[in-house]
Amino acid sequence: MAAEKSGTKYSEPEYAKAQDRAKVPYYHVNIEHRLVPETQELLEKYSHIPREQQSEHVHIIRDRAWDIRAYPCIGLGSWLTPQLCRLPVYSQILKRVKEDGALLADMGTFFGHDLRRLVYDGAPSDNLYGVDIVNHFDVGYDLFRDRDTFKGHFIEADFLSTTSPELNALKGKVDIIVISQVLHQWLYEDQVKAATVLSSFTKPGSWIVGNQIGNPVAQDVSLKQMATSVFRQNPESFAKTFEEVGAATGTKWETQAWLRTFEEMGWDAKDGAWMEPDVRIIEFVAKRIS
Ligand SMILES: C[S@@+](CC[C@H](N)C(=O)[O-])C[C@H]1O[C@@H](n2cnc3c(N)ncnc32)[C@H](O)[C@@H]1O
Repeated sequence: MAAEKSGTKYSEPEYAKAQDRAKVPYYHVNIEHRLVPETQELLEKYSHIPREQQSEHVHIIRDRAWDIRAYPCIGLGSWLTPQLCRLPVYSQILKRVKEDGALLADMGTFFGHDLRRLVYDGAPSDNLYGVDIVNHFDVGYDLFRDRDTFKGHFIEADFLSTTSPELNALKGKVDIIVISQVLHQWLYEDQVKAATVLSSFTKPGSWIVGNQIGNPVAQDVSLKQMATSVFRQNPESFAKTFEEVGAATGTKWETQAWLRTFEEMGWDAKDGAWMEPDVRIIEFVAKRIS
């Protein structure tokens, strides 16, 4: 794991660089079925895109995004199935941002789709930050057709880096960090390091929430199609991760995490077929106590 974007190392995995879509198991030509009713409603009522134009629209947008980075979730269209708003603590997150003025930062925000959902649900967009190592934000504005209305702040930066003044300005100030489908790109030690960096943006009372690929058995997994090895968290290893964060930073965390099947996430079971047996999604909430 590298900490500086400008260096020769990179904080993103190799497989995220350009991939021939025909050669990977995680680019599905047709992602129409991903347009679930909640997303249809968002595109219709928030973005004013008529239902009959939505399928063509999301396919064009997906291919523009794939040309920037080739992540499985982009090729599979997983971003079309809402994730943050299905977390059991979503109503509390929304309340904190809407009523208590909490600042929320989505790390690895991609299009900023979870941020748009929050705005649609009544959150003031000015309190929202989306951080990504590469600019998917312009494609995101085109996806949601809200360049003139969305007032959230996008920061193009490696969240592990210390060189972005805009990112540094958030240190110690963020009430809710969202990190979905990002930490799983690393092995355990690097996940702990990344979680430790995330904790530097928090203060007592802050939460770190999100999801990633997990497994009932915490383990290293070799993903041949991606020529990489990653660590699969389970709830116990996730708790240990934040014990280590606490020990390294003098902070105290209380964690909750649970495993879901792909179907429970509203995804297709076959989307995970190229990964290891029993693959799951782990959803989590880490609350900073002190
Ligand atoms: C697999 S996508 C997940 C997008 C979104 N969070 C979701 O759950 O749908 C991972 C995103 O994290 C971004 N990313 C990966 N490493 C990063 C880093 N070190 N700093 C900031 N963003 C990063 C990628 O560019 C990509 O947009």
